[in-house]
Amino acid sequence: MISEKEKRDNCDSIRSLTSLLCEYTSNPLGVDVAQPRFSWVIEHSERGQFQSGYRVLVASSKKNLDSENGDKWDSGKVASDESMNVVYTGSALESGKTYYWKICVWDKEENMSRWSKLASFEMGLLNPDDWKGKWIEGKGYGESTCFDPFQGKTTKIPYGYLLRKEFSVKKDMLRARVYVSGLGYYELRINGNKIGDSVLEPGWTDYKKRVLYSAYDVSKYLRKGKNVIGIMLGNGRYIKAYGYGSPRALLQLNVEFTDATTESVVTDESWKMGQSPITENSIYNGEVYDARLEESGWDIPFYDDSDWDQARKAEGPGGKLVSQASFPPIKVTKIIQPVEISNPKPGVYVYDFGQNFTGWVRLCLSGTRGSKVNIRYTELLREDGMLNAVPNRGAKATDTYILKGEGKEVYEPRFTYHGFRYVEVTGFPGTPILESVEGRVVHSAVEPTGAFICSNPLINRIHKNVLWGQLSNLMSIPTDCPQRDERMGWMGDAQLVAEEAIYNFDMAGFYTKFLEDIGDSQAEDGSVPDVVPAYWSLYPADPVWGTACVIIPWYLYQYYGDRRILQKYYSGIKRWVDFLSSKAVNHILSYGKYGDWCPPAHIKPVDTPIELTSAWYYYHDALILSKIARILGESDEAKKYSQLSSKIKEAFNKKFFKDDHYATGGQTCNVLPLFLDMVPEDKQEAVLKNLIDDIVAARGTHLNTGIVGTRYILDVLTKYGRVDIAYELAVQTTYPGWGYMLREGATTLWERWEHLVGGGMNSHNHIMFGSIDAWFYKVLAGINIDPAGPGFRRIIIKPYLVGDLNHVSASLKTIKGMVSSNWKKSGRSLVLAVTLPVNTEAKVSVPKFELDNVTIKESGKVVWESGSYIEGTAGITDARENEEYVTFSVGSGSYSFEIECEK
Ligand code: BGC
Repeated sequence: MISEKEKRDNCDSIRSLTSLLCEYTSNPLGVDVAQPRFSWVIEHSERGQFQSGYRVLVASSKKNLDSENGDKWDSGKVASDESMNVVYTGSALESGKTYYWKICVWDKEENMSRWSKLASFEMGLLNPDDWKGKWIEGKGYGESTCFDPFQGKTTKIPYGYLLRKEFSVKKDMLRARVYVSGLGYYELRINGNKIGDSVLEPGWTDYKKRVLYSAYDVSKYLRKGKNVIGIMLGNGRYIKAYGYGSPRALLQLNVEFTDATTESVVTDESWKMGQSPITENSIYNGEVYDARLEESGWDIPFYDDSDWDQARKAEGPGGKLVSQASFPPIKVTKIIQPVEISNPKPGVYVYDFGQNFTGWVRLCLSGTRGSKVNIRYTELLREDGMLNAVPNRGAKATDTYILKGEGKEVYEPRFTYHGFRYVEVTGFPGTPILESVEGRVVHSAVEPTGAFICSNPLINRIHKNVLWGQLSNLMSIPTDCPQRDERMGWMGDAQLVAEEAIYNFDMAGFYTKFLEDIGDSQAEDGSVPDVVPAYWSLYPADPVWGTACVIIPWYLYQYYGDRRILQKYYSGIKRWVDFLSSKAVNHILSYGKYGDWCPPAHIKPVDTPIELTSAWYYYHDALILSKIARILGESDEAKKYSQLSSKIKEAFNKKFFKDDHYATGGQTCNVLPLFLDMVPEDKQEAVLKNLIDDIVAARGTHLNTGIVGTRYILDVLTKYGRVDIAYELAVQTTYPGWGYMLREGATTLWERWEHLVGGGMNSHNHIMFGSIDAWFYKVLAGINIDPAGPGFRRIIIKPYLVGDLNHVSASLKTIKGMVSSNWKKSGRSLVLAVTLPVNTEAKVSVPKFELDNVTIKESGKVVWESGSYIEGTAGITDARENEEYVTFSVGSGSYSFEIECEK
């Protein structure tokens, strides 16, 4: 009999176990989930493979793990194909402890893999009692003003300040961890070093409900002898205008010594506080940095802080402390150089980055002490070459740097950010050159997981604009825009592009946190606000906006197989739907505020009654709730909400359906019921015709939809057999359309279909029309989740060969591994290459080009001929045809299907 070990060593076909994630994160620090979940990806050399079992070991030391001693948890061999979000069920995990884990798996032939490489996770401070320090604050060193457009008033906000603590390390250290939060924004420094590469920490939350902290391994920054911790504090969103206070910080440094003892340094009244060179600082207005106030050496030992003030104990913000461990922090992700510098007026220098983006600039200069340089940021230029700051509305978007006059000086802001393409520099000592300024691209550093390219350059450019626009609007929450005096978590904008974001980026950690924000904001009556966190108290949300609390958990389940999210938010979703029910009359929900926002030529919807979008989303939410209830085994409630949705549908049709169209016959009015199969079957064709007549005949193949209709129109046309029209809309270059924006010079997407340069609602970097990008992946590349197998357990690959396209290539790094679809028409043949990870099954549809009797080969071998499936190819188990496609049932692996597409 061969031993387990021999069997494992024989199994070279399981090539490797990769992407070992704990709570969606590789080797996270500061996990505060009591039972974290593990995921992994299997690479296998054979096709059609799946995992028949797994074993997870979690140990309290590397040594134990190496000797296969899972002293915290040994799952034993579990017969299961689950490779995502496997829940830890070992003994209780302790605060601050590091754990090591590895896995092995069995493939479908019961071959056992080698053990994976070691991975780790470290727990955060799990109990309130683990925090030994106090929130501390300092006195004010001055104040500036900040205008809030929602409240229509100007409030005062304090200047930034510094906190400092000198302490001694007397013994040999084993390791050191810092747990820290500082509101609204902080930068942590130890012995002269900035800790971590995140900026604008912590992520925005409703601080009365939840405050995010970060955990850092700072072992290498400390030394035996004297050490200094410094914290720079700024306002961020922790300001009186939103019901909070003035900046404050909480920190705990835990040092473990080689003699097994520990010591902590925590924030308390023994800390010193001093004035910061960052005086004025506000998200909207920018930052003033007076380099003359720099205290050289303030964050290293032996600095004389005797004239600094004593820090004061502060009230805690009220919210519970939650770790940012699995939440992608904001970072400077890219550095870009300006493409042009101009000098439209004496002393005024304007830089063009050629790209609208979010962040700030770094300025390099030298000059006399006290000279003042202003950096203004805008998205647009005026005809005369000067900045057009009107679209920034109340946001001053200006950083000011006052020189200390000591040779070369380098400045970049810390506690603000801007949305811009152009930068104006005035007061520059001497003449700036192109290299005096460098752009820092800043946003939540979500991992790019999608890639898309095709043979149509316009589509590639739309895709690129969507990527820039999406990233610009991930600033610890999904924002509407990055430039003007809003930058709020408008939930409508967020929900309409969530699928696009998920196709392009790893959004699991980001949305997990945003759902907590939504949960925090839910009111007693079940309503949620339009903006989350509810810095502006806008209750109840327009149903189009509020639906974010339903659709985002649903997507996390669909795309990441995250069942825990459904469990966690099930009651919140129910409360929201019940709230909608309480407002509905005879199953019609008519309240609403914005509806199909920003259709062509308008801000408010014109052709789509607000009550239609509200009533439709009521149906949408009740329907999804009934599905969630079914998944969670709540069969009575599944039935209840499914019956409710049927009644809503009936009422919707009764109220809005008129012979061959809905309500006004506006595009969105017809698109929505078609999308959710609400149209009586015998009327579908008529409604579709009505929609197409409006698009094609009445509007010369243009859409006439706001953000809601735009999200669904391409999907609907595709679903009902008119992908050709969907494609024409996508590549339309005349107004209104994405191509028009690009033609007019857009480098991101606009808030409005029009090219506007005035004030009001006119952002040039809104993401809400970015939903089209998901359609590129789903339809042009044809990569889709199959709802029957969430988390990409089942996949549908069905590309549409449409218009002038002759090549599309897309890939997605999913939680199961890499999925790709790549098709190319060349000469008379089409090749469709597909990659599917282990543990997945797919239906791969190869287009037939309306030809009878097609022959399809896979890697040179005939798999379909004369209307029949030819058995015998590894990984392919079946094939069926319909009028347009031959659809193969396949398992994991890489395939290359080839078909003659012309006679
Ligand atoms: C925001 C939008 C938002 C809308 C709701 C605007 O000011 O920028 O994107 O969804 O208000 O009315």
